[in-house]
Amino acid sequence: MNSGGCLGISSRKPCSNILILGKKSSIFGSPLLQRGHSCEYNLSKSQLKLCYSSIKANCSHNRKILGFRRVIDSNRIVFGGSGSNWGQSKFFLADRVKKNGGFGSVTANVASNIRNNSNSVGSRLPENSFENIYIQGGFSVKPLIIERIEESQDLFGKDEEKGKVDEVKVNDGTFGDTDRFSGAEASEPTLGIHVSEVEKEAWELLRGAIVNYCGSPVGTVAATDPADKQPLNYDQVFIRDFVPSALAFLLNGEGEIVKNFLLHTLQLQSWEKSVDCYSPGQGLMPASFKVRNVPLDGRDGEFKDLLDPDFGESAIGRVAPVDSGLWWIILLRSYGKITGDYSLQERVDVQTGIRLILNMCLTDGFDMFPTLLVTDGSCMIDRRMGIHGHPLEIQALFYSALRCSREMLTVNDTTKNLVVAINNRLSALSFHVREYYWVDLKKINEIHRYKTEEYSSEAVNKFNIYPEQIPSWLVDWIPDSGGYLCGNLQPAHMDFRFFTLGNLWSVISSLSTDKQSEGILNLIEEKWDDLVAEMPLKICYPALEHDEWRIITGGDPKNTPWSYHNGGSWPTLTWQFTLACIKMGRPELARKAVAVAEQRLPGDSWPEYYDTKQGRFTGKQARLQQTWTIAGYLTSKMLLRNPEMASMLYWNEDYEVLEKCVCGLKNGRRNCSRLAATSQ
Ligand code: GLC
Repeated sequence: MNSGGCLGISSRKPCSNILILGKKSSIFGSPLLQRGHSCEYNLSKSQLKLCYSSIKANCSHNRKILGFRRVIDSNRIVFGGSGSNWGQSKFFLADRVKKNGGFGSVTANVASNIRNNSNSVGSRLPENSFENIYIQGGFSVKPLIIERIEESQDLFGKDEEKGKVDEVKVNDGTFGDTDRFSGAEASEPTLGIHVSEVEKEAWELLRGAIVNYCGSPVGTVAATDPADKQPLNYDQVFIRDFVPSALAFLLNGEGEIVKNFLLHTLQLQSWEKSVDCYSPGQGLMPASFKVRNVPLDGRDGEFKDLLDPDFGESAIGRVAPVDSGLWWIILLRSYGKITGDYSLQERVDVQTGIRLILNMCLTDGFDMFPTLLVTDGSCMIDRRMGIHGHPLEIQALFYSALRCSREMLTVNDTTKNLVVAINNRLSALSFHVREYYWVDLKKINEIHRYKTEEYSSEAVNKFNIYPEQIPSWLVDWIPDSGGYLCGNLQPAHMDFRFFTLGNLWSVISSLSTDKQSEGILNLIEEKWDDLVAEMPLKICYPALEHDEWRIITGGDPKNTPWSYHNGGSWPTLTWQFTLACIKMGRPELARKAVAVAEQRLPGDSWPEYYDTKQGRFTGKQARLQQTWTIAGYLTSKMLLRNPEMASMLYWNEDYEVLEKCVCGLKNGRRNCSRLAATSQ
């Protein structure tokens, strides 16, 4: 896919390409439409009612709409720029032509307010170093802007630092100096440091998983299992799976693929896909996307690249990818931190993307708690596992994404209310989780003696947890010291299972207090044989068995006890463990886990997950050469080699947020967050 030109578009259902004009937009004012440049529309029936009569004279056929996006809220209108001028933008249309090569390009006019909406970087970038490609769909889609980095230019000013599929180039990860990324100082990377054969193999496999779109790397597929006859969606780029790949690339001094990924997924963000005629909220990020190379209509032998997102409408069980947007924000911040290229997060389209995700998360609903209410399977565990409600993993990612956004959002009149909302939510969320999710011996003892049916705002047992819910395994399992955050909490329901990702990410983001974070690592160390054993790390502990398995998973044959999401061991979690350990000053613990993984992963062909209590067997249905297993291993190795890089990826306690605590308890029993932060 390295041909010079190709047409990049995103696929959508034929009926879902719709154009809605923002309040300030005028279809008649568009030179684009008036002059009849290559503007193609595919309107849904419902939308035809709204705008067909206005635009049909200007439309031809289907698919591409230039320069419009749905404008829904007032924030967005302001954010999108208020000018009603229409500017001219370069529309790059380059079909990959298999037979005769070559490509065509057209220049089309795009509404300047839309351009402002979508690209603030134009003036910042040297005119001749990027090709701006504006291609897009319609309704609720941002103009697709692809910055094609020319051969002679890259983020590092060094061609050889770009990812190449067939070469293993590894540096020692000491790219702390941001100049290397910005290209301001084009020094040689420290290539050729000693890396083990295992790492070399891992790099080769990781590079082999790279997916190109219009000739540029945009992500890594979930798995490249050569024996897999039925890849399902493992040949797609998953947002969550790409995070460790992205970190491995960033730590190795390669930023282009990450930047491309962030921009492309941003363009997919607001695409209208629906399940049973109902569309998810604007701002949802897809779970994954696939790059398809499809023949061009009516042009023999010509092909185009097509980005096809999946918002859950094709996913098994139709799960909603709540975590995708949160991961996207987290990765965006990591990109800035590691490369020093903050211009990406400052772009108006990127800022709008952050705001859309946050708006979705912060919208008022029926919730009583500061935690996010989600359906089952809305995160890494994307099958029914009884984690609907307020699962810890989502809360920890939510908290991290809020902290990232607080750092990245440009504060102005449009965003100031959002920033206040973020601060309030951070404060309430940390109080809620620290106070109510924490489980240790003392707390279990308290629950054991809980009174129930307390009707009062002063109730001790606020969630009316019946002591009978304390599972028998926990009584013996909980160590004398240490503890963890429970998996889920809602009325009369406390899920006492230990979920690794949520706990690790709480440590990383300082959602847990320092003392709690220490307690979590102590517990992992103490329960090593249960949580690490022969392969790090258990996704959750313990497994659901017998009737619980039947009732809670619905008898899921993939999630049988001690397999897959139900107590399986997932090596990809090692990088998050490594990060948490480095943050808490315990790298030796991470080193031990990485050593365990290293012993088996290459021999077993880098499986997705392991089965059995001790993680002895390769998972029954595990894909081999699973990319996030490989990338997680590499990221762990690089973080351990350069712990100072890790500090860019975790957060310390934010006392400012605690000071601003807005929860109702402030004037009550105690000054909550402060106390919770220091007393646990
Ligand atoms: C499985 C996992 C999910 C992952 C996907 C691709 O569905 O449950 O977390 O993103 O595979 O690897």
